[in-house]
Amino acid sequence: MAFNQPKGTHDIYGIEAKTFKKIEDVFAGLAELYGFNEMRTPIFEATELFTRGVGDATDIVRKEMFTFDDKGGRSITLRPEGTAGVMRAIVSQKLYATDDLPLKYYYYGPVFRYERPQKGRYREFRQFGVESVGVNSPFNDVEVVIFALTALSYLGFEHVQLKINSIGGATTREKYRTALIDYFAHDIEHMCEDCHVRYEINPLRMLDCKVEEDQKIIAGAPKIQDFLTPDEQTYFKKITETLDSFGIRYEIDHNLVRGLDYYSDFVFEFHYISEKGENYGAIGAGGHYDKLLADVGGPSLAGVGLAFGIERLYLIMEDNQLLEKEALGLDVFVMNVGENTVDDAFSILTLIRNSGFRADMNMDKRSFKALFKRAERVQAKLAVIIGDDEVAKSVVQIKDLHKEEQVTVAYEDIVAKLDEYLSADEHEHHHHEEE
Ligand code: HAM
Repeated sequence: MAFNQPKGTHDIYGIEAKTFKKIEDVFAGLAELYGFNEMRTPIFEATELFTRGVGDATDIVRKEMFTFDDKGGRSITLRPEGTAGVMRAIVSQKLYATDDLPLKYYYYGPVFRYERPQKGRYREFRQFGVESVGVNSPFNDVEVVIFALTALSYLGFEHVQLKINSIGGATTREKYRTALIDYFAHDIEHMCEDCHVRYEINPLRMLDCKVEEDQKIIAGAPKIQDFLTPDEQTYFKKITETLDSFGIRYEIDHNLVRGLDYYSDFVFEFHYISEKGENYGAIGAGGHYDKLLADVGGPSLAGVGLAFGIERLYLIMEDNQLLEKEALGLDVFVMNVGENTVDDAFSILTLIRNSGFRADMNMDKRSFKALFKRAERVQAKLAVIIGDDEVAKSVVQIKDLHKEEQVTVAYEDIVAKLDEYLSADEHEHHHHEEE
C-alpha cells in the first residue's frame, strides 16, 4: 500500500525548501532590524480562541477550520492563522504588563485552512507574520507596510501592488452594515449563494464577491469612506500622507474589507501582477486591530500586523526566475577511486567539511565517468580525486570542474588550495553581480 500526501498539502524539498528558508531568513532578518523578536506559539489552540479572535461570522471559522476533540474532550483547532495565537500568548504570559510598548513579534510556520486546493491555495500552508501591539499610531501601521515592501524588494519582487482602505471602528461599521443591508435588499434574490449567506451574517464581505453579475450591483453600493468619523478620516489621511512622503505607491480600494473580523481602521493587501500580466492575487495582507487583545481576555490595546503566504511568494519567484539554483550545489566532491583509498578519502572529506566547505564523496566503487556525472548533478565546483597512486604519495588531484585545470596537492595543503580556488570563485561571482 502506497500513500500520497493528504489533499491540499505538499512535500517541500530541493530548491523549494532552500527558497522557503531564504524567504523566512530575509523576512526574519529584516524584522529584527525593525525591532521585532521571534515568537513561536502552538500549532493548535483551543477552538474558542479562533471563534472569538478571528470571528465566528468569517469563512475561516464557519467552514475552513481543522477542528477535533482531543482525548480529554477539549475542542482543539489547528491554527488557521498566526495573529490570534500571538495575542493569546501575550495574555497568557502577561507580556502586556510592561511600559515598553509596543510589543513586537514575528513568527512563521504552518497554518491550516480547509479550502478547495488550487494553484497557490493549500490546506496546509506557511505564513510569515509580524504583530506590533500596544501603541495606537498611524506610524506603527505604516511601519509594517514599509517592512513588508522592503523584504519583498530584497527577494527581488518588482511588481507588487499595495491596496489599502479604512474600515473605521465598530460603530462606523455597524452604520455601514445597516446601509448595505438596505442597499442590497432590492437585489439580494438575484445574487449568488455566497452573497445570500453573507447578507445574513456579514454583509461587508459581499463587497468581496467575485461573481461578475454581482459586481455590477456591488459597484453601486454605499462606500465605507462616507461613513468614517472625522477622527477616522484624519487617522487614515495621516497614513496616506506618510506613505506619500516615502514615495510608496498604493491604490485605495473601497471594497477591501478583509476576511477576518478583528480589523478596524487601516487594512491592506499586497498583490502581485507579473510582467506578463499574470495576477497572483494576494501574497500578503494585514491591518490594524483595536479589540482583538481584549476579545481574547487581555487589556484593551490596539495593534497592527500582517502575514505573507510563503507558498505564494515561492510560486512567484519560481515563475519569474528569482530562484537561486546554485544555492543547492556543493563546493567539493571527493572522488574515491582506488582499491585502498576510502579511509584517506573519508578523513580528507571530514577535514574539508570542518574547514567550512560543503562537501560529499562516494563511499561505493564507481567508474570515473559515473563520478563526474554525479559531481555535475550535485553542482560541485571542485573535485578532489584520490586513487591508489595518490594515497601512496599522500597527495590528491584537485580539479576545477568548470575548467580543464588539474593540480597535484599534498594532503597538508588541501584546505589552503580549496580556499584559493573557492574564494577566487566568489570574487568572480561578485564581479558578475556588479556588472
Ligand atoms: P490572510 O489574508 O488570511 O491574513 O492570510 C495572509 C496570506 O496568507 C494571504 O495573503 C495569502 O498569501 C496566504 N494564504 C491565505 N490562504 C492561503 C491558502 N489557502 N494557501 C496558501 N496561501 C494562503 C491573515 O492570516 C492575518 N493573520 C494577517 C494579519 C496579521 N493581520 C494582522 N496581523
